[in-house]
Amino acid sequence: MTIAPLPPVTPSSDPLSVWPASAEEQPHGRVLVGGVSLVDIAESHGTPVYVVDEAEFRDRCRTYRDAFPGAEVHYAAKAFLCRALVRWAAEEGLGLDVCSAGELELAVTAGFPPERILLHGNAKSPADLDTALRLGVGRIVIDNPAEIARLAAAVGSKGRQKVLVRVTPGISAGGHVKVMTGSEDQKFGLSLRDGQAQHAIARILGQPGLQLAGLHCHLGSQITEVKPYLVALRRLVGLMARIRDAHGVVLPELDLGGGHGIAYRPGDPALDLTALASKVRAELAASCTAARLPVPQLIIEPGRAVSGPAGIALYRVLAVKATPERVFVAVDGGMSDNPRPALYGVRYAPRLIGRHSTAAPVRTTVVGRHCEAGDVLAEDVPLPADVHPGDLLAVPAAGAYHLSMASSYNLVGRPPVVAVRDGALRLLVRRETLADLRARDVGL
Ligand code: LLP
Repeated sequence: MTIAPLPPVTPSSDPLSVWPASAEEQPHGRVLVGGVSLVDIAESHGTPVYVVDEAEFRDRCRTYRDAFPGAEVHYAAKAFLCRALVRWAAEEGLGLDVCSAGELELAVTAGFPPERILLHGNAKSPADLDTALRLGVGRIVIDNPAEIARLAAAVGSKGRQKVLVRVTPGISAGGHVKVMTGSEDQKFGLSLRDGQAQHAIARILGQPGLQLAGLHCHLGSQITEVKPYLVALRRLVGLMARIRDAHGVVLPELDLGGGHGIAYRPGDPALDLTALASKVRAELAASCTAARLPVPQLIIEPGRAVSGPAGIALYRVLAVKATPERVFVAVDGGMSDNPRPALYGVRYAPRLIGRHSTAAPVRTTVVGRHCEAGDVLAEDVPLPADVHPGDLLAVPAAGAYHLSMASSYNLVGRPPVVAVRDGALRLLVRRETLADLRARDVGL
């Protein structure tokens, strides 16, 4: 059967450019990551499986600390969290941004210092707030007016909780409309434009149990340009000056959130961290000088850019179907372990591993095993024409928002997580079994 021609592929892009730095091609299509063969992992731990390169994660933490000296770098736990990763982030000197009692408990019980944790959420439950106060988190980010009295009451007359206020600065940025959080007219934060932020700030300053330390914003996710951050910075410093003028209070902290975009495929744009760091530093200094304010402590909250490129997802091919337009390659995972293509139309670059193929690439769509046509992992990608059941596919840049957003759709069970480092492999999160799924089902 003749398959339609391939979409153009950027010939100059290095196919391993979006893989961990440790990735190494070997004869017969074998690929090592962290010194461990991915084929061996697939054989010993089954598929689908997520592989995390510990050195890549740690290097990315260090890159942030070096690029932003003096700033507090909080890893955004929602991207991916497990106890080993909590320890890596702690050892690399990062703080943690959590958005639920669940993430918070996991981090603190794994030994993360609670004073280096910051709690977010547009609708924190009483359990979220109680857990945060009980465990002694460093900062709570107030997102709406109802939270002010609620939090003040929970703190009581004896304590004092450091808080930031989440401001929506009216900026549209991000890789998809579903992850844009800096614009007006959405669920997050207190608007700068309509005065809600100023109003909330006045109320917080009137609460003896709340210590207002600064302003927070998170513009969105998968942002690949520096400019939106600079505009946000200017607007937030402007608000800090107005707070000083109205209340005589100089806020010592400014949190610019996360959202730093990464490349999922070779040649994709990514946010330039060095440029971001130098331009943010310069803009902060200039805006503060103009407003006659001291430069506040800068906080940033990257998630995806720390853990995303450290992860690889491995799948086994189960079926191949050719149509006049393309080849469908069906694997043993899908939207339950990676809902991102279905949710945001994200494009990935899967690769055949475990054998060397000389077959010409054909237009292929990698689909999952779930019961809907939208269960696609990678649309229109070039894969060798001879891909067949039993082959292994590896998908790079799978370390963020994969497992953390995985579901038990079709009762398939969520994949395990294996860490690799210096030629050694370690199971971090075991596979979800049918017994796990059955254990929750307590009625009959
Ligand atoms: N800070 C706050 C307040 C956030 O809400 C987020 C992400 C981050 C930091 C980290 O953003 P990052 O650096 O990872 O972009 N599920 C979507 C992403 C949702 C992001 C939610 N908030 C995805 O798979 O792309």
